[in-house]
Amino acid sequence: MHRSFKVGVFDSGIGGLNVLSACIRLAPHLNYYYIGDNKHAPYGNKSCEEIYYRVSCAVELFKLIGIDAVVLGCNTATAVCVQRLREKYAFPIIGTEPAVAPAARSYRRPLVICTPRTAESARLKELIARFPNVSFTVAPMPKLAGEIERSLTCGKLPTIADHLPRGDYDCVILGCTHYAFVRSQIERFYRLPVFDGAEGTAKRLISLLDNKNIECKGRILGTIDHRYLDCKNKQKFAFLKGICLNNVTFLGESRDINEKIYKQMFVLQ
Ligand code: DGL
Repeated sequence: MHRSFKVGVFDSGIGGLNVLSACIRLAPHLNYYYIGDNKHAPYGNKSCEEIYYRVSCAVELFKLIGIDAVVLGCNTATAVCVQRLREKYAFPIIGTEPAVAPAARSYRRPLVICTPRTAESARLKELIARFPNVSFTVAPMPKLAGEIERSLTCGKLPTIADHLPRGDYDCVILGCTHYAFVRSQIERFYRLPVFDGAEGTAKRLISLLDNKNIECKGRILGTIDHRYLDCKNKQKFAFLKGICLNNVTFLGESRDINEKIYKQMFVLQ
């Protein structure tokens, strides 16, 4: 019998729910734990040290739970700290990156919209440098993720038009997982094909499972492991209490916000 495989998904806030959703679509029977650090979102303008510190706190929490793999459902966290985290932890850490390669296969003038920290990152620059014949425009959006986070968690629709740059582009790459919530608005605004990295991240999780010979399709691997959530040492583990919804457990201070948005965006649609 397979033991249950636990995947921790992290984002600064609600954006990673889009990555979680893609993972669930491809691997519906794994056990997922979601942490969105909504209280400190957005991350996109924070210093790299602060981002690393906050992401590390969440990864430590995942480690306590005995997670098998971590998915950074956050381009900013990936750009700033995936390498450092991989050096520190033994479990696999999968990042989310702008879908530069899929876009570059068919388009010559992609617009990449992302947070300032992602825009200036060496990872994005290296990714783009692999396609010297493609002319990318990287546009840092200092306020868009925050606007999406604030509006949606207050039950409102975000306004995006003021944030988006105008120019001669032939496709748009969403370089921040929050933007997937306004994908159709972005499509309407530009009338161009839109690329999103969530699916690619989910595929990397699947290939990791394949390598470990873990079945993830059509078979229930196990139920949610509540050992850590019901631990006798309440004091120490109180912060690990989660809200469970099918095979997803929402953890952290703002677990209720993420659970609410998850239900609205994915379950009840
Ligand atoms: N959702 C995140 C990303 O993919 C972070 C946005 C933010 O907190 O600024 O970059």
